[in-house]
Amino acid sequence: MRRFLVAGNWKMNTTKASGSQLAQALVAEVPKENQAVEVLVCPPFPYLTTIGEIVKGTGIGIGAQNCSHEAPGAFTGETATEMLSDVGCRSVLIGHSERRHILKETDADINLKVKKALAAGLQVVLCVGELQSERESEQTDAVLDTQMTGGLAEIDAAAFDQIVIAYEPVWAIGTGLTASPEQAESAHQYLRNWLKSHYSSEIADATRILYGGSVKPDNAKELLSQENVDGALVGGASLKAEQFIPIIQAAVELSAG
Ligand code: PGA
Repeated sequence: MRRFLVAGNWKMNTTKASGSQLAQALVAEVPKENQAVEVLVCPPFPYLTTIGEIVKGTGIGIGAQNCSHEAPGAFTGETATEMLSDVGCRSVLIGHSERRHILKETDADINLKVKKALAAGLQVVLCVGELQSERESEQTDAVLDTQMTGGLAEIDAAAFDQIVIAYEPVWAIGTGLTASPEQAESAHQYLRNWLKSHYSSEIADATRILYGGSVKPDNAKELLSQENVDGALVGGASLKAEQFIPIIQAAVELSAG
């Protein structure tokens, strides 16, 4: 049985003070003994250490929103995976749609980052998803295939205990438009079958596939109830404890059966 993962992507938001307050609220509300659901927050780089100290020992992990594929050295403005591990990151988001579409990251760039993060022992949350125009022209499966093939090129089956896939339809991110549970389930099924045909049934069964795109307290339960949805990558609603906590609770309730 796959354990739910609920991850908050804070993007380029919060201050040191507001992020700390948010993390403190999570620590207060998410029971320490919570084993049912893995909880992760991904603050901006400058706050990783501060937030990491607040959540330390609570089971809530910290993740970065990006990383360099290079080893430490002369790469002005970049952040090495060694540094992420050094400040206590458990995970790193790779290939988020804002990085693909605004910052023009390619599947080849993403693949290098995936390899580097895996080698550093980090959990990789590889984000994939189609644009609205691609969905309308019925290219969703083809886009997912290209992004999975490119992002996971030369990645061995053995690495999959460190890999999580996040399906995030670009048209649903930050727009208030959510994929219907049926749309999400159908893309997740496609991704699970992709893992089965490119790796194995065992890997397809064990790998978590998160849904992201306008997840809110009022739609979380229905999305998370889908057979192939194993958690949520939450943007806007992860910035407010009163919205993020009910999403975690929805996952806790569903895991209790
Ligand atoms: P959203 O963002 O929840 O604000 O739509 C999700 C994401 O970008 O990861």
